[in-house]
Amino acid sequence: MNSRELGSAAPACRLCAGPVREWVDLGRQPVSNAFLRPQDLGSERFFRLAVGICADCAMVQQLEAMPTDHMFRADYPYRSSTSDGLRSHFEAVAGWLRDTELTDPGDLVVEIGCNDGLLLRTLGAAGVRHLGVDPSAGAAQAAAARGAEVRVDFFDERSAATIRAERGPAKVIFSANTISHIADIDEVFRGVDRLLAPDGIFVFEDRYVADIVEYAYFDQIYDEHFYLFSVRAVDAMTARFGFQLVDVEHIPIHGGSLRYTVARPGARPRRDSVARMIDDEARYGLGEHDTYARFGRQIDRIGADLVALLTDLRDAGRRVVGYGATSKSATVTNYCGIGPDLVPYICDTTPEKQGRLSPGAHIPVRPHEAFADPYPDYALLFAWNHAEEIMAKERRFVEQGGRWILYVPHVHIV
Ligand code: SAM
Ligand code: TMP
Ligand code: ZN
Repeated sequence: MNSRELGSAAPACRLCAGPVREWVDLGRQPVSNAFLRPQDLGSERFFRLAVGICADCAMVQQLEAMPTDHMFRADYPYRSSTSDGLRSHFEAVAGWLRDTELTDPGDLVVEIGCNDGLLLRTLGAAGVRHLGVDPSAGAAQAAAARGAEVRVDFFDERSAATIRAERGPAKVIFSANTISHIADIDEVFRGVDRLLAPDGIFVFEDRYVADIVEYAYFDQIYDEHFYLFSVRAVDAMTARFGFQLVDVEHIPIHGGSLRYTVARPGARPRRDSVARMIDDEARYGLGEHDTYARFGRQIDRIGADLVALLTDLRDAGRRVVGYGATSKSATVTNYCGIGPDLVPYICDTTPEKQGRLSPGAHIPVRPHEAFADPYPDYALLFAWNHAEEIMAKERRFVEQGGRWILYVPHVHIV
């Protein structure tokens, strides 16, 4: 546990070349979704996971990028459809887009990072012209099996130009939990410029840095979350690329996210929400280094408390099991040094993760059925962003005397 405030070295901002002041260092970390087969041990890739804020444009960003081809490969195991909460969220998004934007029969929607097709299958079933773009072939195949049309590719200027030539302009370009993953974000905006209709909108949802800081969600920092967006920084970024941020909405997904609506300048009215949230962020101190220094101290405290609790429980002979082999859990286990000695296995519903070892910490991942066979004394809830859904589903665990361990915003047992 060594979150450090350095602040001396100043790498250049990916967006504006301004000085990036380091804010937190979470140490040596693996590819967060690279679940290992036993024969893969020894061939893992690690990088230094450190985050800073640009003094000029306020964009929070990682100081070193994990190359995308190590992350989004054919065997990328994340599947959106493992969560009922996400299923209903994307059904609601589909309904909203159909009612407000995709009103003409020929309107095209393109989704960047469609994964296994939660959004597109609903739109496709309603007869909407659509295309998903996602480089992870396994996830894309799952989307295709559900009736969604997908191009296995990275979204960039090249693929966007091809889509435009083949299908014409897109009325809506949508993306959830993907734009913040793309360090070369200028490629995304060049692609959007090629593809978006003159009156179209580019809508993206991503985790909100203010929620991460407020609730000490340090495990939302992992390789894939290259940028941690704020309204101020996204407003500056969209303007830099020749677009305008016209609306922003706070949504409860993944512990707190924002939905940004971007259009060509003058194409849509700019709503008050943008200026209001930029003011709120300034009042909160989101651009100030002290805010992040406080966050660093909270992380150190959480790490120490969690390891102490798990060690005490082990020494007292109590069984603790991890619940949800999330990408977030890679940050927690590797930063705190939690291995199979403290958490012997993690239960997870994703077949692609089961039978494998967690990245870096090498904790075995077992199917969900192992959770009740027999129930442990304590479950460490790595998938806390799905807490409501999971706790409702696992009522019997608590009825039988089991307790949940949560570690954000502080370590506590419920
Ligand atoms: N949109 C889904 C959701 O919100 O649950 C999936 C999010 S998942 C965390 C990120 C997805 O983005 C992965 O399926 C990954 O393959 C895809 N992705 C990463 N880089 C991409 C890029 N440059 N273009 C298109 N998709 C990309
Ligand atoms: P996420 O936090 O990145 O959305 O990942 C959630 C992980 O938790 C994913 O691997 C699936 C797993 N999970 C379960 O095992 N059981 C559940 O009920 C839910 C909602 C998720
Ligand atoms: Zn900058």
